[in-house]
Amino acid sequence: MDSKEFREFGKAAIDLIADYMDNIRERDVLPSVEPGYLLKMLPENAPEQPEEWKDLIQDFNHAIMPGITHWSSPRFHAYFPAGHSYESIVGNILSDGLGVIGFSWISSPACTELEVVSMNWLGKLLGLPEEFLNCSDGPGGGVIQCTASDSTHLTLLVARDKTIRRLLAADPAQSEGELAARLVAYTSDQCNSSVEKAGLLGNMKMRLLKADSNGRLRGETVKQAFDEDIAQGLIPCYVVANLGTTGICAFDPLYEIGPVCNEANVWLHVDAAYAGAAFICPEYRHLMKGVEYVDSFDFNPHKWLLVNFDCSAMWVKRGYDLVNAFNVQRIYLTDTDTNVKVPDYRHWQMPLGRRFRALKLWTVMRLYGAEGLRKYIRNHISLALHFANLVRSDDRFLVEPEPSMGLVCFRLRDGDSTTKLLLDNLTAKKKLYMVAATYQSRFIIRFVVCSRLTTKEDIEYSWNKIKEEADLLRPNKIRIPAINPIQVHSCEKLK
Ligand SMILES: Cc1ncc(COP(=O)(O)O)c(C=O)c1O
Repeated sequence: MDSKEFREFGKAAIDLIADYMDNIRERDVLPSVEPGYLLKMLPENAPEQPEEWKDLIQDFNHAIMPGITHWSSPRFHAYFPAGHSYESIVGNILSDGLGVIGFSWISSPACTELEVVSMNWLGKLLGLPEEFLNCSDGPGGGVIQCTASDSTHLTLLVARDKTIRRLLAADPAQSEGELAARLVAYTSDQCNSSVEKAGLLGNMKMRLLKADSNGRLRGETVKQAFDEDIAQGLIPCYVVANLGTTGICAFDPLYEIGPVCNEANVWLHVDAAYAGAAFICPEYRHLMKGVEYVDSFDFNPHKWLLVNFDCSAMWVKRGYDLVNAFNVQRIYLTDTDTNVKVPDYRHWQMPLGRRFRALKLWTVMRLYGAEGLRKYIRNHISLALHFANLVRSDDRFLVEPEPSMGLVCFRLRDGDSTTKLLLDNLTAKKKLYMVAATYQSRFIIRFVVCSRLTTKEDIEYSWNKIKEEADLLRPNKIRIPAINPIQVHSCEKLK
């Protein structure tokens, strides 16, 4: 392909995406294909001869598009948002256009330095303590990881390395292998699956401690677990606190867990994958009270900050902890003499190669501006409250627990099996997509405001679909009419 064809192909692809987004509401949010559909449609072997890009676009529309779940649709309310914006897409195109792999400073100086700058900007927007920022006097700094899962896995390995070094320094006669086998990690039973998986991958026992009735892991629970394990000769090593659990978006109190971890020399990592984005709004920062006790902090701009997957922002207080754990030298990698201020990011992550992800983060921060980003977060939270009020206006439903960020959990008063049936029926119709969670042992439906396109009308569309389905489930019971939207809780911030 020459540059002329590239221009045509690229423009056609941009047009296709812009049309897709403009008309996304016309599509069912879930696809109507059966497992294996694409395997049957596509040839078994790659073509021997080059093909035309126009044919490829045709096949994209004909074969790929029918198998897409529309994460960017305002009818998508499952999981958490998948970051998406035109600004980010273009940032990504620029990155792909350069095609650099920035594992060390010399492998592309701008790749490293833009990441340092962008992570400082973002850390300041969140109100993180200075210690986490590369621009402070200390050894802290930020790095873009692929996913929150990677950050958890990585910091668990760093915690292990640091703990073993400390114990060996105190008593060099100990066996490293024997020490490693006694290390224990902790988190709450509300953690994301990726946290438990980090224990499996890092070969460290991971205890899922019982959260309180509001889904929060308490400091006292952590302390008790440490004491029990120490009494058995085990070594507490690593804790993951959750700011915004996946199920109900609960916030663990860092101000309780932090002092317990610091006192016991245990690494404290924060998984704020979804909700961390809200800290760009000062009114939500009380939810990270105690963050000064934390060793590492991660959230996903690729969830709720308009950056396309993948972009997970992680900060550490001491960059040298990562370098100590992961520094493997080769003659072909010793071409610069960098330091923590200009990190060799290959020591801060698992793979050697790294994309120029800072470009899309930088693009989004510049083209939205901090005010634009805050407006986006506040709008989603307002829309979630609007949805919660619509649900509350119908006596058949309960909102439980209280809405948190862009997430509203609800259920039918009738009970778990009817609530599950409602969700199954809605999913089968493919117009909306939500997933379930449990709260205080009850089956609940999670409704998340996900799309950046979502308006008040979209929320009302989704609510009407839910109501209609509930009507079908309970044909013999009197339906409580929904209140007039004018009476609904104030939504001044709605667009
Ligand atoms: C609280 C929490 N942590 C971690 C993750 C995993 O994120 P990632 O896919 O970036 O690894 C999720 C995903 O939804 C999450 O909700």
